Amino acid sequence: MTSQKASARAHTNIALIKYWGKKDQQLILPMNGSLSLTLDHFYTDTTVEFNSAFTEDTFYLNQKKLDAIKVSPFLDLVRQLNPQAGYAHVISKNHVPNAAGLASSASAFAALALAASTAAGLKLSRRDLSRLARRGSGSATRSIYGGFVEWLPGTSDQDSYAVPIDEKVDWDIEMLAIIIDRKQKKVSSREGMQRVVATSPFYPAWVKSTNTDLIAAVKAVKQHNLKLLGQLAESNALRMHALNLSARPPFSYFEPQSLVAMNIIEKLRSQGVCCYYTLDAGPNVKVICSTAESRQIISALSAAFAPEQIIEAFPGPGAKLIEC
Ligand code: ADP
Ligand code: DP6
Ligand code: CO
Repeated sequence: MTSQKASARAHTNIALIKYWGKKDQQLILPMNGSLSLTLDHFYTDTTVEFNSAFTEDTFYLNQKKLDAIKVSPFLDLVRQLNPQAGYAHVISKNHVPNAAGLASSASAFAALALAASTAAGLKLSRRDLSRLARRGSGSATRSIYGGFVEWLPGTSDQDSYAVPIDEKVDWDIEMLAIIIDRKQKKVSSREGMQRVVATSPFYPAWVKSTNTDLIAAVKAVKQHNLKLLGQLAESNALRMHALNLSARPPFSYFEPQSLVAMNIIEKLRSQGVCCYYTLDAGPNVKVICSTAESRQIISALSAAFAPEQIIEAFPGPGAKLIEC
């Protein structure tokens, strides 16, 4: 009997310029490039053990046995790279709410890519890890790296991967996550973006304008221009959510409390505070701001949200191996 085990930690990332639509469902190739910030506060730890004595793949998330319906096909990709690897047991713990628009699938599949490939005896480059993570969940392709990360959309499995833009962030930028609802969303990211691509008449305009936003946002990161980056991120997020309203049948991830948070941020901005919001596929609002002004923003948000609903997150590191 042979057994090999490895554990990895990967952090979530929040897109400032969003991925919202695939040109290839199976390979997970996105319609457009995207830009994200990896966060220190939210992460996933995953242990993978390949053992020739195992008779099936098993998957435990937060100490509960779950169907390995998404994990098993992902492990098959690793087994294609090393046909000697047999079935695997996967034990994962999310330090992020599951499926609530806080990018649990990003940290999940980045951690799984690193843990599974290492346990299978492969030593993949970060580029190949990013390509592998992409096959589990598109946003995971960016969580291999820390700080600001760009996902180059590519045209094939070979050339669709992430690159670090500013990995060790040494300027004043952070994110406040406002936790409005930890519950699993009704429309998964996968289903939501597919519906939008298939039915929104505005989709071609999204791709065109997002490509333009991305070029400007990468420049803003390089220039450490928080205001410009925030403006681009907020407007790009609102366009993504407008697509959802324009789909058939239409859907929205906003909750009343999401709008309350957005209004507070807009009001602060009218008072001269540099803060902008973004939302992913869920009701939780993320605020882009500087640490210099974060106390003032938290204090304004406290009028509507409890202290435990407001989480301060800083730029975080890329995926790494940890002790089992
Ligand atoms: P989110 O906004 O949290 O990324 P998604 O709908 O994109 O929501 O993805 C959530 C899905 O990701 C879950 O339903 C589950 O299938 C998968 N997932 C979440 N955490 C893990 C994990 N630690 N290991 C494997 N898969 C996970
Ligand atoms: C709104 O990566 O979760 O967070 O590739 O189908 O697993 P799949 O979707 P996922 O979608 C993320 C969408 C987003 C924007 C983003 O992270 O770029
Ligand atoms: Co996701």
